[in-house]
Amino acid sequence: MTKYAFLLGSHPLMSFLEILNILDVEKISYSKPYRLGEILLLEMKISDAKLKKLQNTLGGTIKIIEIVDEFRGTIFQINKILTAERLLKKYFAQTKSKINFGFSVYSPKSLVYAEINWLRNFAYQTKRRLKDKYSVRYVDEKNFDLSSVMVANNKLVETGAEIVIIKQEQNFLVGRTATVQDFRSYVQRDMGKPSPNPKSGMLPPKLAQMIVNLSRSSGQKTVFDPFCGSGIILQEALLLNLDILGSDIDEAAVKSTLANLEWLIKTYNAAAKKLGGEKIKKTSISGRIREADATRSRWAKANTTDTFIATEPYLGPPQRRVPLMHNAKKIAHELEELYLGFFNNLHNNFSKIKRIGIVFPVIKTNEGLLYLNILDKIGDIGYIRHDFLPSEQAKKEAYVSHRGGLLYSRPDQFVLREIFVFERR
Ligand SMILES: C[S@@+](CC[C@H](N)C(=O)[O-])C[C@H]1O[C@@H](n2cnc3c(N)ncnc32)[C@H](O)[C@@H]1O
Repeated sequence: MTKYAFLLGSHPLMSFLEILNILDVEKISYSKPYRLGEILLLEMKISDAKLKKLQNTLGGTIKIIEIVDEFRGTIFQINKILTAERLLKKYFAQTKSKINFGFSVYSPKSLVYAEINWLRNFAYQTKRRLKDKYSVRYVDEKNFDLSSVMVANNKLVETGAEIVIIKQEQNFLVGRTATVQDFRSYVQRDMGKPSPNPKSGMLPPKLAQMIVNLSRSSGQKTVFDPFCGSGIILQEALLLNLDILGSDIDEAAVKSTLANLEWLIKTYNAAAKKLGGEKIKKTSISGRIREADATRSRWAKANTTDTFIATEPYLGPPQRRVPLMHNAKKIAHELEELYLGFFNNLHNNFSKIKRIGIVFPVIKTNEGLLYLNILDKIGDIGYIRHDFLPSEQAKKEAYVSHRGGLLYSRPDQFVLREIFVFERR
């Protein structure tokens, strides 16, 4: 087993839960998960190719770092670990052509000036020491926090190393970044598609990916999104190599989903051919997307035991400023009707679907947050909430609602997202 550190994204708890669920779904055995802020540590046995695939599967993980050394002491002793010989042997990807290297430090407390200064001197000294025999470049980042963009643009993983120092309570872990999130691909799938649908509010692709991953359980191969909008969830499902089914009440949304998914398959498969990567397996999507009302329709094709739902239904009209509580209540009431209509229909017409990952809106009002008050009713219909965490632990977490939903928000948003996974009783 090798120890790895996962650098978690902006919503660390959600990222953490996504990792554990995917390791279970993919049957990758692991031990001793331990989370400290933005870092998750665990041990697993995994090939390089599988690790790369795992990185691409996870919407909430920014980097995966392989831990090479562990020591007790202070950062001023790191030179004893990171000797030139050890760097060449254990850290750098290669030494035959130019070596690019940089440092990142993750620590619950930020480094003090003396530590920053010392580490920078150490980095430049290392460069000088190696310079006679090797062609070396040090990529300096003043806060020792290299972004995935910097790691990728400077080709640190392929040509040298991003050396990562993780400070824990008693000791330091030192490792080398093995994989980083492919930021170019996210930009392309977010911005490149032919039919963005600003009307339905933009679901960030990484969040869509996390919703799919949190909703999955092993053996389930088909994602059904009954409120598919412009198809962002379905797009991420296709990239995760899952089968898809989608519907929407709005004809224009159906057309937009079809155009976006066709574009995605064409673009990705052309790139895969050129770069030798994996292709999206489904090449025909007609018959998989249709117009339907999620509160009334049946669809035999989607009513199977290997299908699960991952969906973001309508979250209400976009808000430009904080709404008054009594206006928000009107919106929430209409949305409650829609959501209950959906769960009732699911129960009556989709009896084989066992897991449902779904986004609820939480409206920020002048009197505080307003939640959809329908959990008991959904329970009466026959769906129970999956507990992401034991309730004592959940209370201590940021980004968890008082009733155990995972919260996702950005500072400028007036409608937050609350994510639940339900299981049919
Ligand atoms: C927030 S968007 C969905 C975003 C989508 N999940 C995605 O990944 O792009 C909500 C969609 O729900 C659809 N909708 C609203 N009421 C519906 C209903 N009763 N049945 C099906 N779709 C509905 C709207 O037309 C809209 O396209």
